[in-house]
Amino acid sequence: MSKKIFSGVQPTGNLHLGNYLGAIKNFVELQNEKENKCIFCVVDLHAITVKQEPKELKKNIRETAATFIACGIDPAQSIIFNQSMVSAHSEAAWILSCVSKIGWLNRMTQFKEKAGKDKEKASIGLYSYPVLMAADILLYDATHVPVGDDQKQHLELCRDIAQKFNNDFNAPDFLKVPEPLIQKQFSRIMSLKDGIKKMSKSDPSDLSRVNLTDDKDEILNKIKKAKTDPLPLPEEAKELAKRPEAENLLGIYSSLKNQNLEISVSEFSGKNFSEFKEKLSETLIEKIEPISKEIKRLLNDEKYLDTILLEGFHEADKMASKKIKEIKELVGF
Ligand code: TYM
Repeated sequence: MSKKIFSGVQPTGNLHLGNYLGAIKNFVELQNEKENKCIFCVVDLHAITVKQEPKELKKNIRETAATFIACGIDPAQSIIFNQSMVSAHSEAAWILSCVSKIGWLNRMTQFKEKAGKDKEKASIGLYSYPVLMAADILLYDATHVPVGDDQKQHLELCRDIAQKFNNDFNAPDFLKVPEPLIQKQFSRIMSLKDGIKKMSKSDPSDLSRVNLTDDKDEILNKIKKAKTDPLPLPEEAKELAKRPEAENLLGIYSSLKNQNLEISVSEFSGKNFSEFKEKLSETLIEKIEPISKEIKRLLNDEKYLDTILLEGFHEADKMASKKIKEIKELVGF
């Protein structure tokens, strides 16, 4: 059955291995199932829920589009566009925020984490962020949404919002309730410096992540310095439960190789980390170096990137304008 795929990535700089293995790699696989229709969005409206430097944001929007293409998203096959160019996203987000309950949003763990201790100082945008995310998805009648594990709760909320809107306006099945696509394994890549912390662009230490723009030497250095534990690698996968760093590094290796964790465990069973790290670096360089080079090449061609985003805008805008018109009609505008 053909799927309508929608997903988004924030243009906040430092797209990293977690974004790649948890989401973008999966985007490419879904695109390559020819019958699917795929839409990938650079979600700049989401980015400004925390303060951004305007010049940096502009650069990061192009860099995110370049990263999509460098990772294998083909603009001739998939739509790549920039969220803020399609005004229906903001309009739908407002309307959906009027059917969403405060109690639902109060449960969002990502807001709690991002806002930290001083919630009073967080922006309203950061709080209502998942409603905008629901608008993104529902405007396109997306059937499937590939994301990393950290977005699971936001997708559950999106489903609740769709159902509530359909109920409130007596329009069964009008907003399509989407299915999350979260990989069973390796959907949460952890920091290289701490196996219980998610790999993240906001970590102040660049050594905590492999960026998709890193070159060979940076990758070698980061893997060399990645945290481990004093034991040799385990003989069985179940022994990894208490060894988060070993589990994460073996997970990264397995995901890059498209192989089960168990196979990687048996490949390195009883070996030292130094031997494993050599293999891991080699595999990472093989995968990431071409992506990194291609991102840099594309960034020198701003005209090309802007053309792709403009073409994507026209296609996305056609779909979203139609849907927002129907939404407004139902609401009574
Ligand atoms: P963002 O920009 O934080 O991350 C983009 C994608 O990368 C995944 N990801 C990870 N996966 C595994 N391990 C990690 N350490 C890791 N870090 C990030 C995220 O799960 C995500 O899939 N709210 C979304 C963007 C968004 C969106 C949407 C997604 C806006 N509208 C509509 C889907 C549909 C976000 O902030 O992703």
